[in-house]
Amino acid sequence: MTMNALPEQHLGNKAINGVRSLSELGSVTPSGAKIAPDISESELALWQDLIQQRSGHYFSQSRHRFLRQRLWERMCLLGINNYYDYYKFIVFNPKGAAEWLALQEQMLNTETSFFRHDPSFRALNEYVLPRLCSAKQKQQNKVITMWSAGCSTGQEAYSLAMTFFEAKAALPQCLDKGGWGDGRLKISASDICSRAIDKAKSGRYKAHELRFLSPYYLKQYMDVIEENGNTVYQVKKQIRSAVQYGYLHLHELENYWIQGQDIIFCQNVLIYFEQASRLDIVSRLCQCLNPGGYLFLGPAEIVGLDLDNIQLIRLKDVLVYQRKQ
Ligand SMILES: C[S@@+](CC[C@H](N)C(=O)[O-])C[C@H]1O[C@@H](n2cnc3c(N)ncnc32)[C@H](O)[C@@H]1O
Repeated sequence: MTMNALPEQHLGNKAINGVRSLSELGSVTPSGAKIAPDISESELALWQDLIQQRSGHYFSQSRHRFLRQRLWERMCLLGINNYYDYYKFIVFNPKGAAEWLALQEQMLNTETSFFRHDPSFRALNEYVLPRLCSAKQKQQNKVITMWSAGCSTGQEAYSLAMTFFEAKAALPQCLDKGGWGDGRLKISASDICSRAIDKAKSGRYKAHELRFLSPYYLKQYMDVIEENGNTVYQVKKQIRSAVQYGYLHLHELENYWIQGQDIIFCQNVLIYFEQASRLDIVSRLCQCLNPGGYLFLGPAEIVGLDLDNIQLIRLKDVLVYQRKQ
């Protein structure tokens, strides 16, 4: 998988020249938080078009307030006090490209957890892996490839690896005497949020982020370490080394050359796109699958999918498609 790195000039949340103090701009809530001023219909339409064109994300009415607030936070940092000027800054200013990345990052929802959608991981363990490994055994193919597309801070990718490591002993073995040994599982994980990718790579989590991980998994797959005087948990090296992280924009999948995936998880990502973009992304993801490979989506994340090359696998509470042979 070819994955591009984020440009160096990415602004993150740091202020750049010309920053004004927050109190100079907009109204302040009693708690001191900033409330974004109103945005006109025409300004909103401009922003919606720009965002949709660049990231594919669609902000429905219920998320307008969220959008306005995120714009305003960036505007405060830049010392810009109207939405149209900020729009022009992003589109025409030489620093606009870097600022766009910072804004985009601010607008992402990176909420995730280990084994987030339990029925999908159960289906992976009980239905998909045994069948996939049987097929691999017949092909004498010893490598399993998985991709967590929209991986956020890594919990999904590590849950995939843990599921495989747990299932490994019971899976149909490949023909060599080593069976499914280490190094035979290759997981790619991608996102557009550089902060999330950095955290994912570290594999370090606070205790509250592990609340859905059973004591068995905690013991088996996490090390307890000290970080700046605090106790944190780190995914064990054996699991971390199975996963490779990178920046990949699902709205620009046509720019990447990805093939040969056995399993793709793309959950809780498509909800940010409108229907046409969802269908387009899913059809491109299917092309990244090996024949017989599986695509897991979040339940109810897509309707009206009608592609010749895939079939729906009927499993309770799970939305999984298989690429036809
Ligand atoms: C809500 S999280 C879901 C994480 C994980 N898949 C899960 O189900 O727990 C959505 C993730 O999708 C990422 N994302 C949103 N749009 C994306 C895009 N166009 N390309 C790649 N990742 C994207 C976000 O940055 C975020 O980390």
